[in-house]
Amino acid sequence: MRQTIPALSTRTYLDSAGAGLPPISVTRAMREFVERWSREGERFEEWLDDILKLRERFAELIGARDNEVGVVPSASIGLVELASSLDLSKRKKVVVSDLNFPSNVLLWLRMRESGLLKKVVVLRGRNGIVPLDAWERAIDEETVAVAVDYVSWLSGYRERVREIADLAHRRGAVALVDAFHGVGVFPIDVKRDGVDGLVCGFYKWLCGPHGAACVFLNEERLNSMKPAYLGWFGVKDNVIERAQVKRDPFDIPFPVDKAEPSATAARFEWGTSAAVVVRGAVEAVKFALSTDPGSRFRVITRRKEELITGLRRRIVVSGRFGHLRVSPHFYNTAEEIELLLHSLRTI
Ligand SMILES: Cc1ncc(COP(=O)(O)O)c(C=O)c1O
Repeated sequence: MRQTIPALSTRTYLDSAGAGLPPISVTRAMREFVERWSREGERFEEWLDDILKLRERFAELIGARDNEVGVVPSASIGLVELASSLDLSKRKKVVVSDLNFPSNVLLWLRMRESGLLKKVVVLRGRNGIVPLDAWERAIDEETVAVAVDYVSWLSGYRERVREIADLAHRRGAVALVDAFHGVGVFPIDVKRDGVDGLVCGFYKWLCGPHGAACVFLNEERLNSMKPAYLGWFGVKDNVIERAQVKRDPFDIPFPVDKAEPSATAARFEWGTSAAVVVRGAVEAVKFALSTDPGSRFRVITRRKEELITGLRRRIVVSGRFGHLRVSPHFYNTAEEIELLLHSLRTI
């Protein structure tokens, strides 16, 4: 498997939470796409088919159905789309955590500033954790949604999503999750975890390209959560829905007197996707599906334990403005230098 990821032969790469490394299958598909586009121009219907494939495969990855997944340009945009689908006529409070990625906090604060929400509770993490009882105290009958990241980008803490979703449901709120650091790391089953809405991009643990993400909306919420915004890909009887039933995507004009969102999560697809990115993302999800998520997680856990053990060696150096300052004194030994070098190599 390592041989299919070219960058691994030239570097020690430990930054998949920033961006994962693409396997050859992803970059090859994207390169071939660009070459063909250069030779032949747009292949609209084929590109629509890629969106269908991406929805299908991503759905498989998280235990969802195709009609519950839409393709959007980024995880942050996916969150905005879910937020815009909340019914704020009666409830105007949202509970989030400061361990969330900024997009999953800023969005809600901005909605409060602009008057769409009345209250946003930002739970504060301590030692990298927000305890479950803090969620329990904050979620009440005024709460319309709880927004939580499956795994915190800051502390690596894996939230107890199932329990948080349960708390939300008991008070009549929905659970929205950013799973960017979860999908591709450990097995995810949105139905088992009671997730109502989810977003995830491809460029981290899924080893795919930047510029596309998937939004999941549980089919139980398809009737009640309609977005406040709509585009020509999200409208009912859009080009993809037409192509799916073997119709010409442009057989009849699109309605301009009625804006009815698609009955599926395609309602979140506002307009034309970055088709080359979607092609790469399809390959990335195929790559993820080619390994068992349980065994991936076992390997990742082992590496993490090795890292923690290494860090506990209590090597003391100092950080100075982006530099590591190592200052050996006369009482240091050659073994200690070797230990430092070894740790730098393994860490
Ligand atoms: C948890 C999480 N969500 C969202 C993002 C940003 O995603 P995007 O750039 O697709 O909006 C990041 C980026 O680091 C992240 O860690």
